Amino acid sequence: MILVTGGAGYIGSHAVLELRRSGHPVVIFDDLKEGHRAAALGTPLVQGDLCDRDLLIDTIRRNKVEAVMHFAARCYVGESVTQPAKYIRDNARGLFELLEAMRACEVKRIVFSSTCAVYGVPARVPITEEFPRQPISPYGITKRFCEEELEMYCRAYGFAVVAPRYFNAAGADPEGRLGEWHEPETHLIPAVLRSILSGGAKPLEVFGTDYPTPDGTCIRDYVHVADLATAHRLALGVMKPGVFEPVNLGSGRGNSVLEVIAAARKVTGAEVPYLVKPRREGDPPALVGGVDKAKRWLGWTARHVDIEETVRHAWNWLAAHPRGYAS
Ligand SMILES: NC(=O)c1ccc[n+]([C@@H]2O[C@H](COP(=O)([O-])OP(=O)(O)OC[C@H]3O[C@@H](n4cnc5c(N)ncnc54)[C@H](O)[C@@H]3O)[C@@H](O)[C@H]2O)c1
Repeated sequence: MILVTGGAGYIGSHAVLELRRSGHPVVIFDDLKEGHRAAALGTPLVQGDLCDRDLLIDTIRRNKVEAVMHFAARCYVGESVTQPAKYIRDNARGLFELLEAMRACEVKRIVFSSTCAVYGVPARVPITEEFPRQPISPYGITKRFCEEELEMYCRAYGFAVVAPRYFNAAGADPEGRLGEWHEPETHLIPAVLRSILSGGAKPLEVFGTDYPTPDGTCIRDYVHVADLATAHRLALGVMKPGVFEPVNLGSGRGNSVLEVIAAARKVTGAEVPYLVKPRREGDPPALVGGVDKAKRWLGWTARHVDIEETVRHAWNWLAAHPRGYAS
């Protein structure tokens, strides 16, 4: 049995689907503050807080859990600046409580959702796993600390850990069963599509058109959520006791904000009006992941790398669920 924390959230729900497809029994643990019961698609779900260690121990024992995929976290970079306590509690302490619950039950295999935010502003792209961890936001700092917690648990207690560092998760289940719904929505692709759905009532904001990039807007690496799910399943098969393995998960290519807007225009046939705003502090011009290690070590490469296809999958779900999981 695999315990998936945050399995009612965006990436976690796609990983649950992939695990079930490949025959793994799953139990979800989620407080449903950001996640959606409907995204569990009928998978057993324990509603609870990561900081409730007793409930975690009970869930692990009752379900005879053998490995954990830990997606649950708070993930708004901007909010982490104004409310760092929430991030320290749910991300750093949340992982500590989970690790102690696992240790109490002698479960030592964990895949941990890390992020390219641990690299901060890189000196160059593509970013490889050896780049220094110099996060600039409280969110990124809590994720780096989580990685450090996990390194200590590997060394001292023989935990087996894989820490995929995702770039920008994007898209939706190609079969349209799941999608992305956050309130507020800070991710570019759903923000563009939701501004289209609103008929321009919620105009899109583009932060900075004067970056040293070909069209002046920021370049990011949009990695398809279904590819992330596959990588997590593969990670279960390669983890080793006492070893902490970070691995970048990216599409290996970058797309600018204007390229994403153009893809949305093509997919939906709608115009995308947008307001140009000043650059946001701490937004690097380009973030693209080096993905050689994922290929070599995990046997994984992203399959859905065409931005138009990724946007189309996101749109298919959103157009059918204009109010998200409440639709
Ligand atoms: N979305 C991205 O582009 C991206 C990029 C890099 C890393 N990540 C990481 O991937 C993971 C999943 O991200 P997501 O986009 O699916 O986020 P999400 O908010 O959609 O999902 C997170 C889930 O965790 C749950 N949760 C949070 N704190 C909890 C707690 N204390 N107890 C129980 N449940 C709790 C939420 O209710 C939610 O269902 C996060 O760890 C995030 O930091 C995401």
